[in-house]
Amino acid sequence: MWLTTISASLLVVLFVTWFMEYIKRWRMPPGPFPWPIIGNLPMFAGKSHLTFIDLAKKYGDVFSLKQGMTDVVVLNSVDAVREALVEKSVQFAGRPHLQSLDIRTEGRRNMAFADYSPAWKQHRKLVKSALREYASDTKLETKAHEALRDIIDELAKVEGQAVDLNVHIFNLVYNVVCPVVFGVRFRMEDEDFQNLMKFSDDLLKKDPPLGDIYPSIGFLPNRAKTDLQKLMEPFLGYCKRQVEQHRMDFNPDNLRDVTDHMIKAQKEAEEDGAHDITALTDTHLRQIVADVFLGGTETTTQVLRWAILYLAAHLEIQEKVTAELDRVVGRDRLPELSDRQNTPYTEATVNEVLRMGLIDPLSLPHATTVDTSLRGYHIPKGTVVLPNLWALHHDPAIWGDPHTFRPERFLDETGKLIPKPFALMPFSVGRRACPGDKMGMADTYLLLGGLVQNFHFSFPKGERPTDFSSDETGGGNVCQPAPYKVVLTYRK
Ligand code: HEM
Repeated sequence: MWLTTISASLLVVLFVTWFMEYIKRWRMPPGPFPWPIIGNLPMFAGKSHLTFIDLAKKYGDVFSLKQGMTDVVVLNSVDAVREALVEKSVQFAGRPHLQSLDIRTEGRRNMAFADYSPAWKQHRKLVKSALREYASDTKLETKAHEALRDIIDELAKVEGQAVDLNVHIFNLVYNVVCPVVFGVRFRMEDEDFQNLMKFSDDLLKKDPPLGDIYPSIGFLPNRAKTDLQKLMEPFLGYCKRQVEQHRMDFNPDNLRDVTDHMIKAQKEAEEDGAHDITALTDTHLRQIVADVFLGGTETTTQVLRWAILYLAAHLEIQEKVTAELDRVVGRDRLPELSDRQNTPYTEATVNEVLRMGLIDPLSLPHATTVDTSLRGYHIPKGTVVLPNLWALHHDPAIWGDPHTFRPERFLDETGKLIPKPFALMPFSVGRRACPGDKMGMADTYLLLGGLVQNFHFSFPKGERPTDFSSDETGGGNVCQPAPYKVVLTYRK
């Protein structure tokens, strides 16, 4: 008798759960059938941004999936992304609560993965003012020029050889971003540099822990979780040491970098309540400097790796950039930000690299902060929202030939730069859009310009890569080029 009662109750619970789910899904955007427990998990494997383009052909530019038990809505067109992230920006400004992000951010005490909240607003305001102060045009230019001079000497040593420039590019970008964040520069052989670079590389390749897909069993031990914890420890230790060292040398009359800026905010919060102190603990401080370090380095290194790959593959384009820089900048000084307006072809090339070499094809994941709607469909609070920026950057209806590297698409018939098309969104849009967009564009222009002005890049004979799609090992959410080698010729 008791067995019958238990079975019947179980059936009722299952039916009610299924029915509630059915009602919810009925009002949500359409999508493929979600299997019990796994949902549509296989569709998130590998380069999911490409799978999503195929799904959009069947279900429309806004569709629903289930990642395990979690509701996910994917946006595949400019209109859908703008409606969600710009027109309804507050409703779509949350971040999902994932176990991997909790581990990385010591319980979401950073800015990039924090909920849309007063703490996030305070952090974002502080980061933006810090970047205005320590990465202003002239300061950034000086740092970029110093970093370029060092790397030009190093690159000259490997002239004529087939080399993978990964380490050189990391060093170049670190020596622009790390002076801004921590006030430090690195030589290629420095242990801290080697460790940070390895950390960055490994972070991109980490598998998500089980708790990302099934939060209720996230407490169970699993390898991906332990590996991520082990990977984060030394990196967060480095950020902690930086904050401690800065605190010891702190001089309010001589603020040096983003870390000092954050310490000053913490002191002001303690002394006169100028900011909310509960959101400026030591953990918040190291997490926020980690955000600016990772945001500034992981992206720009990969953008430059894509840029050199495309320029080596398209020598005629490389020659046009070189000729323009020779004409406007000459050979006696490095490119400056004031040159940007007179070098439209180089600017267009940077745009084209950012369009094709999109680092975050699905941006960072968003989440809805309230029950809301999109295109008339119901989107419940807490739904994960993935803006498929890759789909926008590769839409044939917008670009005509999206898979061709062609900077000219950003120029008018007189060779002038056209206004930035809506569909170009490498930094995303709306409330959570990248706060380092200006710095990212400036870095890319200065560093790429300086490299092309000084070196010619080509593939070693018979070693032209056949496939320019992104590296499979780079993790589904990040597009980095597969390893490649180039031969440098110094244009002394
Ligand atoms: C070419 C270089 C860069 C690219 C392509 C890029 C791209 C992006 C994208 C797509 C997002 C996600 C926006 C969203 O969630 O809608 C983002 C967020 C972010 N980026 Fe960047 N970024 C770059 C450079 C930088 C730099 C230089 C910094 C800092 C110095 C930075 C710091 C951040 C931070 C802190 C966030 C999180 C913003 C938030 O959650 O409120 N990024 N970036």
